[in-house]
Order: sequence, then C-alpha cells, then structure tokens
Amino acid sequence: MPIFTADLPLSLYIHLPWCVRKCPYCDFNSHEVKDNLPETLYLEALLQELDDHLPLVANRPLISIFFGGGTPSLFSAQAIEQILNGVKQRLLLTPRIEITLEANPGTIDQMRFQAYRQAGINRLSLGVQSFQDNQLQTLGRIHDRTLAIKAIDIAKQAGFTNFNIDLMYGLPKQSLDQALEDIHTALSFQPTHLSWYQLTIEPNTLFYHQRPTLPSDDLCWEMQLAGQAVIQQYGLQQYEVSAYSLVEKQCVHNQNYWEFGDYLGIGAGAHSKITDMKTNKVTRFSQIKHPHAYLHATKRQIQNKKCVEKNDLIFEFMLNALRLHHGVSYALFTQRTGIALKDIQPLLNTAKQRGLLLDHPTYLRSTALGKRFLNNLMEMFLPPSGGS
Ligand SMILES: C[S@@+](CC[C@H](N)C(=O)[O-])C[C@H]1O[C@@H](n2cnc3c(N)ncnc32)[C@H](O)[C@@H]1O
Ligand code: SF4
Repeated sequence: MPIFTADLPLSLYIHLPWCVRKCPYCDFNSHEVKDNLPETLYLEALLQELDDHLPLVANRPLISIFFGGGTPSLFSAQAIEQILNGVKQRLLLTPRIEITLEANPGTIDQMRFQAYRQAGINRLSLGVQSFQDNQLQTLGRIHDRTLAIKAIDIAKQAGFTNFNIDLMYGLPKQSLDQALEDIHTALSFQPTHLSWYQLTIEPNTLFYHQRPTLPSDDLCWEMQLAGQAVIQQYGLQQYEVSAYSLVEKQCVHNQNYWEFGDYLGIGAGAHSKITDMKTNKVTRFSQIKHPHAYLHATKRQIQNKKCVEKNDLIFEFMLNALRLHHGVSYALFTQRTGIALKDIQPLLNTAKQRGLLLDHPTYLRSTALGKRFLNNLMEMFLPPSGGS
C-alpha cells in the first residue's frame, strides 16, 4: 500500500506564452505577439482555469509560484498583481513562498521592475544567454550586452536581492574563453543563482533546419568542466545538472519538480502532476497548447489526463531526482512514489555495480561517472518495453 506523506509540497506554474520574437533555438510553447497582448482576457482565463482545478488541490498550501514563458515580463505589473491576487483568493500560500517571474532584458524598465516587486514577485529570472553581442545576434535575442547589464542593474536597484541569470554555452562557434568570460561577467553581478545550459538543437526550431556550427562535444565537455570550476570560485554550488546557487538560494520551485513534489500548471500548454491524497494516485494532465485556442475555448478541457502507473512512476522519479547533484534520500523515493525500495533493489544493484550510482545505504546519488552518462543511468529505470 502506498505511503505518501500528508504534506507533499505543492507548486503553481503559470504559463504566459507570448514573446516579442521567437528565438531560433527555442522549442518552448512561446509565440510571437502579433498585435496587442490580450492581457485581461488571458488573466481571466487563467483564474477560471484555476477555479476548475481547485477541488484537486483544496487545502494544500503553495510553496512556490513561477511565472514562466514565453516572456512573462511582457505582462504589466498590474496584470501580474491581478493574477497573484486571484491566486491568493483561491489558495493558501506558505509564509515564505518563493514567487519567481522570468524576464527578458529586452522588455524591462525601472518602473516595471519596482512594480513587479510591489505586486509580490520576490525572485527574478533574467534570460541573458550571453554577454557577447555577436552571440546575442546569432541567437536572435531582442537585447544586446548593454541592455542585459542594464536589466541586471535595475533589477538590483528595484530591490531584487534574489535573482537568477540564465546563460547558455556551446553556442555557435563559441571558444572556451568566450564561454568562461560569459560566466565571469554574469557572476560579477553577484546573482544568487545561475542556470547554465548547454545549447541543444531541438526539432521544430529554426536551428534544427538551419543548423549552426557548434563547438565539438569534446570542447563542450571542456567548457563544462572549466565553467564549473569558475562558478565554484564565486561561491555558488552546483545542485542540479544546470543549476548553481549560493547556500540556501536554490530555486524552490524547480527543486520541487526534481524532488517529485506536486505542481499545478495553468495557462496554455501547462502541465500538472497531482497526487490524490485520498487514493494516493498520481495523475498528469496538460492544458490546450495554442494560446489562441486556450483563450477562446468555451470549456477549457484538460488534455492527456493519465494516471501514472507503477513502472512509469519509478522512471519519472529517477528522471528528476538523479538530476540533483547530491541526490535524494531513498526514503523520499518511497514517500513520493508509494513504492517500496525492495521493488527496485535489483536495478539499484546493477547501477551500483556499473559504477553509476553511489553505494550508500540511505542516499540515492549518481557517481561522477553516472553524472557523465546520466542518460544511460536514467534509461536503466525505463519501464519494460511498451511501458506499464
Ligand atoms: C523558458 S526559457 C524562458 C526565458 C525567457 N523567455 C528568455 O528567453 O529570456 C528558459 C531558459 O531556457 C534556456 N533555453 C531555451 N532554449 C534552450 C535550448 N535550446 N538549449 C539550451 N537552453 C535553452 C534559456 O537559457 C532560457 O533563458
Ligand atoms: S524569449 Fe525565451 S521563450 Fe521566447 S522565444 Fe526566446 S527563448 Fe523562447
């Protein structure tokens, strides 16, 4: 019989799907804003959708709210405030809740950042990507280096002490020195958090069809090792594949995903994972993907609703938890999946024998080899062919 904890943490993700321009590497559910941003219509739709989901999460306080995109910073502070007020009227918030908003440096000004803070945003995530103008141009960004630096400055002036910078490496024709210079520049602004992603070429993007020349795998590996050493010099610790933070400044919201907590996603294409506290069943579902269809649906039917079966739960847990640099306790595996540890012991033993998992009695953690070959390690937990 599953044995979930009664206090399974719950996060809220709010998807705001519009951008000024679509970046050629981006496969997120983001769409160029054509005319006016339908702010009011969209926020009404979000709150209606939240009403529909309330029975699923009644009496469970939120530990985090994340406005992701798209480019949430296209929305006015008044709209963000109205959404947050609507959430507060419907759900309980934990006292130290983390409320993050993703901002694109090409869409900000001082007044707007101050107003976001007054609206209740207490963490910013700035999509900088690189501080080199030629790279920013290749990446199709709407901002240059100067604007990126200005955005960071005004975020700090507006009182955002807790902020993240998104950077990417392995960029077209990038050298090792250029990648490291980007990290030095980012960390000179003393962010509490750095997300440092290797650029991946995703299907359905312009880069997939017009592939730029990327650094070799060996060079990217070199960048990763050298970059991690630089980040450490600045006092940030790696806690996930691409995430680094100061002590106790990990992103609560993302950490909850990786620790297999629950989350409700609202907005076009948003995904949810909710555990029914009475039956202990884990359900996943998503929302209508295209913003236009989402806005104009008479009834916002959730899609792809699926109860996650045992074998899939094991794989999904591993897919998330093994991303965490220090892993998780084995106790968390049972708490979050309801599956006894003995059921996966043979798989764990094989992974340990191959040197991919640490041989530790209470902690599930990948070794250095496991981190290098993370996909192989995760695949060991794939359900038997055909799934469950
Ligand atoms: C959902 S995006 C939102 C950020 C915001 N829209 C922006 O671009 O400024 C979050 C981050 O994912 C990263 N990202 C997006 N596409 C990527 C790709 N193909 N490869 C690696 N990282 C990517 C970027 O660093 C980006 O800032
Ligand atoms: S601004 Fe962000 S979400 Fe929008 S297209 Fe670019 S990377 Fe994607």
